[in-house]
Amino acid sequence: MPNMDKSLLSVAQLFPTVEAGWEADASPSTGLKRFSYQLSGVSLHVKEIEEQLSALRTSLVCAFNQLLDLKDLNTGVHSTRLAEWALHVGGELGLSESDQADLEVAALLHDIGKVGIPDAILNKPAKLSPEEYELMKKHPEYGWAVLRHVPGMERASLLILHHHESFDGSGYPGGLSGDEIPVGSRIVSVIDAFDAMVSSRPYREGLPFVEAERRLMNASGTQFDPDVVGHFIPLARGEMSAVFAAAGTSVSAIL
Ligand SMILES: [Fe+2]
Repeated sequence: MPNMDKSLLSVAQLFPTVEAGWEADASPSTGLKRFSYQLSGVSLHVKEIEEQLSALRTSLVCAFNQLLDLKDLNTGVHSTRLAEWALHVGGELGLSESDQADLEVAALLHDIGKVGIPDAILNKPAKLSPEEYELMKKHPEYGWAVLRHVPGMERASLLILHHHESFDGSGYPGGLSGDEIPVGSRIVSVIDAFDAMVSSRPYREGLPFVEAERRLMNASGTQFDPDVVGHFIPLARGEMSAVFAAAGTSVSAIL
């Protein structure tokens, strides 16, 4: 490789085709050098914009989480724990870095659409009527409708849209089945259901771990992706004490 200064090396690493062209040219012209410097400047600018977009996305996730807290729909610790579980399972399933980033947003904000559901339904301490349940089922679409407008969250909004699909096609809103359901949605579905089962509510106690695990296993292959369940259960077992403490269920209920 011919001697290059730092900027040219940087361009060569970022743009292999430029590097190839440079090597083929035994006596590089001043014009090519200038072009390389310009490319270097552009790549730095693109990197800056990417960093700004990433920071904006983080701020928006925090803002939406605050909104969920105002509706008493989650807590910081709770949603952070869900995101950690989701990323752990996503990592084991081999998701790419960008898919993991979308999964994290979806895990944190999967129920953001519930801000559009009346409090009387959200907080009803009893079984919902068929009409109320139909309205509650709108929340994935509401969440998608909001987040799809946010640059960088388009794909996460699709994961949110499908987080109540069932593996056998009996879920909503699309009635998708198996691999038709985005893998991120399948992961959120399992983790959200488990968390809901073990969490205590003002009107009911959370289920013991063994019962929640039994229900996950029973619905594996029908409601839930068996692959996701298989990766999640060992993780949940390993974190059992912390999960139940955070969920407000006594440890004695586990045993
Ligand atoms: Fe949901």
